[in-house]
Amino acid sequence: MIVDEFTRIRRIDTVNDMATTLTPAGEAPQPASPIHPVWLRVTHWINAFAALIMMFSGWRIYDASPVFPDIVIPTSITLGGWLGGALQWHFAAMWLLVFNGIVYLVLNVVSGRFFSKFFPLSPRAVLRDLAAALKGKLSHADLRQYNAVQKLAYLVVVADLIVLVLSGLAIWKSVQFPLLRELMGGYDRARVVHFLAMAVMAAFVVVHIAMVALVPRSLLTMLHGGSKGDEK
Ligand code: HEM
Repeated sequence: MIVDEFTRIRRIDTVNDMATTLTPAGEAPQPASPIHPVWLRVTHWINAFAALIMMFSGWRIYDASPVFPDIVIPTSITLGGWLGGALQWHFAAMWLLVFNGIVYLVLNVVSGRFFSKFFPLSPRAVLRDLAAALKGKLSHADLRQYNAVQKLAYLVVVADLIVLVLSGLAIWKSVQFPLLRELMGGYDRARVVHFLAMAVMAAFVVVHIAMVALVPRSLLTMLHGGSKGDEK
């Protein structure tokens, strides 16, 4: 009987792994698919690099003409040295961020990963997981699945990066993209939108890195992809 052939199967943690972990008796088990596919890891690290370069150089550009006179970023934590240098960094990283972001979004949607990884998502689930996290009772046992707070945070930062790019485009090519400029409420408001979107991203990065520090195994999976052992 075929069923007898499968007498010694490895423990199956998720439905996704079924195809790769069911092995006939006596045969070496096939490796499970990585928690994060290689394209996701590569695009994540390129995105992190480009986004941080843009943020630090953007702060130097902002200081040359602050949108909010009371808010000035200490030059020591900015990148570029002076306005011209910061603009060079900002524009160089911009191309990387945009093209890498397009690759991330297209591969995520086409592979179906985007919908399976981030949905379903409900306000109730976010509140439940947030409450559990605040009580220190949120499980990190299965790194294959994001909790509802993570899902929301990642979706927000992806949307935020899109707003950052579009508002940046409205500032940079304000004459060439009049519709975009007007959608932002004009040139000056586009600068405010750009600054606020940067603030959202900066807040995300601080919380994101703190969360990764609390669950260091998640960093390893974002580096080497992860294996069955990382889920437990
Ligand atoms: C430089 C420091 C960073 C570190 C150490 C880091 C680390 C990580 C890790 C470990 C994960 C996987 C979390 C898990 O599996 O539980 C992750 C996911 C993610 N990170 Fe970061 N990250 C960094 C910067 C950034 C930045 C700057 C952004 C965006 C502005 C970002 C956006 C994301 C997003 C959107 C995901 C989810 C990706 C997906 O599954 O599609 N990260 N990060």
